Amino acid sequence: MLDEAQQVLDWPFPRPSNGHVPHILAELREAPPCVIRIPAGAVPSRRAWLVTRYPDVTQALKDPRLSVDETLPGAPVRIQLPPGEKPSSFLRADDPEHDRLRGMVVSEFTARRVRTMGPAIERLINELLDDFESKPRPADLQDAFTRQLPTLVIARLVGVPDEESPFFVESTRVSISQGNPQRSYAAFMTMSERLRELAAERAADPKDDVMSRLAVNYMAKGELTMDELVALVRLLLIAGHETTTNQIALNVLSMLLDDELRDAVMANDGALIPQFVEEALRFWSISQDGILRMALEDMELGGVQMKKGDAVVISIPSANHDESKFPDPGHIDVHRDTHGHMQWGNGPHYCTGAPLARLEMQLAVKILFQRFPTLKLAIDKPDGLFRRETVFHGVYELPVTW
Ligand code: HEM
Repeated sequence: MLDEAQQVLDWPFPRPSNGHVPHILAELREAPPCVIRIPAGAVPSRRAWLVTRYPDVTQALKDPRLSVDETLPGAPVRIQLPPGEKPSSFLRADDPEHDRLRGMVVSEFTARRVRTMGPAIERLINELLDDFESKPRPADLQDAFTRQLPTLVIARLVGVPDEESPFFVESTRVSISQGNPQRSYAAFMTMSERLRELAAERAADPKDDVMSRLAVNYMAKGELTMDELVALVRLLLIAGHETTTNQIALNVLSMLLDDELRDAVMANDGALIPQFVEEALRFWSISQDGILRMALEDMELGGVQMKKGDAVVISIPSANHDESKFPDPGHIDVHRDTHGHMQWGNGPHYCTGAPLARLEMQLAVKILFQRFPTLKLAIDKPDGLFRRETVFHGVYELPVTW
């Protein structure tokens, strides 16, 4: 039971100074789901269950009795958005609504479709690195490269002009920051308004992009409203750049911090890069504390009794560091079997963009380290680089030289 009188831990848990997943999760995995106190936007805090063990996380992500719909009365929210908005499109909708909307974009991101994007992504990487090469040293790789790449890739795919992508990056940053809800609402609304204008332009004059295809194939036939189209495109833009930016930066950082790892990954024309990318996803576990659900009925999970209306936090970092699934989880091992890591989620909300993010990450590491074999960190220790109080883990900057 979520007993209000009980002394409990405050969540989210801060990461240690080296940016690794919080140690406390290992202790919590010794026991069934525990009760924590979570920040709750409108009210100062509320109680929730924290699910930490690999099998329980797997079940929780797939269980239809746990709803993601944050518009339901009493649903826990991680990011406060304007009242009345359906904030994150299908990411925060349950089936059949989720299935209907996801079905409209899923074909844009199949592994087969994404493979055809390879040459354009390689070209973009080389252009960004040409630019980076001409900068004075040390330079911030996050600013020049790791943020630019995913942002431009997703913006071009959905149909946002290149010159407007900095506006969307900044609006996303403010929208998902926790400090000032009024500012976050304003940024969210401005971003949505601009997308509405772009969508109206595409509906009138379609081009070769996702926004145009949604307008022509669904909105024109009355199967999708303008609000839904805006929410869908906004989800793709936000999900498409925020996560991938930080994961590419952490992949690069891992290589810069460990020469042996770097040599192993880059040997044989980078044969181990795909394996490294999956293992670095598992190790860093950047989707750290945005996975919230609400029990739709009384239910048992992992040995505890949850009540209808209980909030449930699912810890992907904890599942990815569960030693019963991934022995010696606290270091990057490129020869490990990473199958079943949870960094793309699981069940109905499994990441739609995984094939695209994978391709971007693999090409980014390969081309960067082939072109800059002497790349190194421009600071002694990475401790100050890690972002604090964010839903996705990552770095503020990545100062490097070569
Ligand atoms: C390293 C990069 C990425 C990581 C770690 C990541 C991780 C995740 C995770 C964990 C979820 C499930 C969330 C939940 O269950 O609540 C998710 C969902 C999603 N991701 Fe990603 N993602 C990445 C890149 C991308 C990219 C490039 C796109 C581009 C389109 C994208 C689009 C989405 C969408 C649309 C969903 C919602 C899926 C649904 O609700 O059915 N992601 N992602």
